[in-house]
Amino acid sequence: MNKNAFSVCRLDTIQPYKPSNQVAWFLPPELRPLKLDWNESPLPPSPSVMNAVRKFLDHPNALNWYPDANSHDLRAKLSEHWKVPEECVQTYCGSDSALHAAVRIFTKSGGAVLMVSPTYDNFRIYALEAQCSVILDGPKDIYSLSGAELSALVEKHKPQLVYLSNPNNPTGWLVPAKEIEEVVRRFPETMFIVDEAYAEFSNVTVIPLAVQVPNLVAFRTFSKAYGLAGLRIGYIIGSPGNIDYLNLIRNGKNVSMIGQVAAIAALADQDYLKEILTRVRKGEQILEAGLTRLGFPFRASPANFVLVKFPDAKKVQDSLVAQNAFVRSMSHLPGMEGYLRITLGDEEQMTRFMVALEKSL
Ligand SMILES: Cc1ncc(COP(=O)(O)O)c(C=O)c1O
Repeated sequence: MNKNAFSVCRLDTIQPYKPSNQVAWFLPPELRPLKLDWNESPLPPSPSVMNAVRKFLDHPNALNWYPDANSHDLRAKLSEHWKVPEECVQTYCGSDSALHAAVRIFTKSGGAVLMVSPTYDNFRIYALEAQCSVILDGPKDIYSLSGAELSALVEKHKPQLVYLSNPNNPTGWLVPAKEIEEVVRRFPETMFIVDEAYAEFSNVTVIPLAVQVPNLVAFRTFSKAYGLAGLRIGYIIGSPGNIDYLNLIRNGKNVSMIGQVAAIAALADQDYLKEILTRVRKGEQILEAGLTRLGFPFRASPANFVLVKFPDAKKVQDSLVAQNAFVRSMSHLPGMEGYLRITLGDEEQMTRFMVALEKSL
């Protein structure tokens, strides 16, 4: 126990989630840092988002009023977009805070939470905070997961709640929606939290099912393909009853008005989203052609990142940092030793990245 702290902390043995370092913020923008370490979009959002934000800032009370705590307009637009009733949609200050709420609402203290692993580690902290026992288990081949394997994991551990990132960060598996549906229907007593943070890239979603069944909620974000990570906007889609439960502890004031306005504009500009997806896939081709030429094994993903294996990943990463290029090491995860995760940018960014990479060898 830390002597310089209050003597009771229920989480004093927890191993915290390690955020990426954000030194790019403190570099002059003209250096054009390649921030490819946290799966944000390295490209700015739609120009119509920028316009909507500027217009919003002209409102005389833009910053001194609390936001619309019901996110009325944004929820209406999301309901239209997904063709689901408005009462099936709720917004959050990033999908992280929705995940945080979900584990508190859908588990009992002491309940078992299965995180299909290796996966996005933040959820582990939320589950531990909710006094759950966390089971980290996954498929034999950590880079692919089938519905049958998911089913076997649920059968084996009989958890109260399952956390599934689909596509998975960081290993890139993608379980088809139909296969998830079979598992969700097979285990009606288990709550399935399907984190679709990267689903704009993969185009696979369980949203239509989530509004029908009581044991599944889909989690989405504007932080990735829509390029709004800095504004912290996420949302969930589930049955009206589950949304009601989640509303018991939701603080709507946490979803900023500027974020709501930006998300509405981003959602309205689907052409820009398509353009971003195309640009990112072109960037991916540059990266993968370069890696092939240099002979480094890599794993593509249906999301916005590529995993690359290096004989000395630490040396490569350090040398990239010295050139203001930031990537994420995955070496701490079993089965991912020597892997760096590179968030995809467009052709220009990936070309610059390859130049930096070659210099780092
Ligand atoms: C799988 C997954 N879920 C959720 C998040 C966080 O999303 P948000 O910015 O909406 O909190 C991330 C961010 O990296 C992620 O990889």
